[in-house]
Amino acid sequence: MQKDSQIFDLINRELERQRNGIELIASENFTSYQVLQAMGTCPTNKYAEGYPGKRYYGGCEIVDEIETLAIERLKKIFNASWANVQPHSGASANAAVFLACVKPGEKVLGLDLSMGGHLTHGSPANFSGKNYHALFYGVKKETGLVDYDQLESIALKEKPKMIICGASAYSRDWDYARIRTVADKIGAVVFADIAHPAGLIATGLLNDPFEHCHIISSTTHKTLRGPRGGIIMLRHDFENPWGIKDPKGNLRSMSQLLDLAVFPGTQGGPLEHVIAAKAVSFAEILADDFKAYGKQIISNAQAMAKAFVKRGYDLISQGTDNHLMLIDLRNKNLTGKKAQETLDKAHITLNKNAVPFDDKSPFVTSGIRVGVPAITTRGMKENEMETVVGMVDRVLMSPDDEKTISDVKAEVQTFMQKFPLYPEIK
Ligand SMILES: Cc1ncc(COP(=O)(O)O)c(C=O)c1O
Repeated sequence: MQKDSQIFDLINRELERQRNGIELIASENFTSYQVLQAMGTCPTNKYAEGYPGKRYYGGCEIVDEIETLAIERLKKIFNASWANVQPHSGASANAAVFLACVKPGEKVLGLDLSMGGHLTHGSPANFSGKNYHALFYGVKKETGLVDYDQLESIALKEKPKMIICGASAYSRDWDYARIRTVADKIGAVVFADIAHPAGLIATGLLNDPFEHCHIISSTTHKTLRGPRGGIIMLRHDFENPWGIKDPKGNLRSMSQLLDLAVFPGTQGGPLEHVIAAKAVSFAEILADDFKAYGKQIISNAQAMAKAFVKRGYDLISQGTDNHLMLIDLRNKNLTGKKAQETLDKAHITLNKNAVPFDDKSPFVTSGIRVGVPAITTRGMKENEMETVVGMVDRVLMSPDDEKTISDVKAEVQTFMQKFPLYPEIK
C-alpha cells in the first residue's frame, strides 16, 4: 500500500511546530525518543482483555510480561502495593474509581472546576456530575489556597461517600492528612487524582498522598513524562470497609474492585503498545536523573513566577510550589482568550484558564495557566525563564501590534534551536 503522505506530512508539520515553539501548557511534556518508539510498535495489534495470567484471548504470554513489568516498575516508583496500568487516559482512570467506590446518585465532594478542579471531579458536563450527586469545595478568595474549613463543613453536613483531592490548575501543595482526618469522621473514601504533580510526588519533592488517601489515580503524560494514558494505585490494599460489592454481590478488596472497574467495568482491550511505552517511561523515572528533572521543574517554576511578579502580573496564591502558576490578567486589561490567541501567533503556547471567582465565561476567562515541565525537558534552566517571560510579556503588552508579534515569533524560533527536540528524527 502507498505511504499515506497526507497524514505523515501533517505529523511532520506537528513535529516542526513542537520543535520551534515554546510549550507552556502545564499538562504537556515531551516523552523520550524511546517512549515514542515503543508506542509505534506491534503490541497495538494484540487483544488482551483481562489481566496478566488471566486473559480472555490466546497469545498473550508476551504482552503479559510487558504489562507485569509496567506494573512492577510503577509500584516501585510510588512504593505502592497494587497498580493498574490499563486506563486509556486520566478520565478513564477516574471513571473506574467512581464505578468502584460510589453508586449512581450518591454524593461525592471535589474541588470546583472553576477553582482549579477537573471535569471528572463532578462537573455537570461530565459523567461524574451527571451520574453522581456532586458537591464542591473551593479556594479562599484572599489567599487562593484550598479552603479546608469549607471542605470539612460540607463533608460533615452532607456526608459524601467519596472526597476527591487533586486539581488541574492549582499551584500549591495539598494537605492530604487534613482531608483524611475529615473523611475518617464520616467514613468517606479519599481519592487523590495526582495527574498534574505526579512526577514531583514520585521524586519526593511534594507531600506524599499515598499515606493518607485510599486511592490514587494519575495521568502518565504530564510531569511523569510518559505516553498519554492513565494509572490507578494503592499503597495499602484493604477489605473495603464501605461494604462495596462487585456486580455479583460479593464483598471484594479495593484492588479487586478497581481491577473490575477498569475491565470489564469501563474499558475493553488494553492498549498494550501504550503500556509498553508506560513501562519504558517508568524505568526512566526510576533512573537517577529524574529527580534532578523534578528539582529543575520546581526551580524553573519559581524563577518564572518571580519574573512574572516583577512585571506586575497577579499570580493566584502569589506563587507556586509545583510546576505551574495561574495568572489573573484583569489588572493587565486582558482576557485569557485574547492572551492565548495572541501568544499562539508568536508560537508561544499556553491555555486560557478560569481564575477563582472569575466573572467571565469559561470560553473567555480572566486568566492563563502557565507550566514549565515541557520547557524543562527541552533543557531550559532558571536564566531562560527570564527570557521566556520577557517574550510573553512583550506580546501581551502589545496584543494588537502585528510587528511585535512577528518579531517575537522570529526570536522564539531562533531561541528554540538551542533546545533540540528528537534529534533522532531527521
Ligand atoms: C487532575 C486531572 N485529572 C484528570 C485529567 C484527565 O486526563 P486525560 O486528559 O488523560 O483524560 C486531567 C487532564 O488534564 C487532569 O488535569
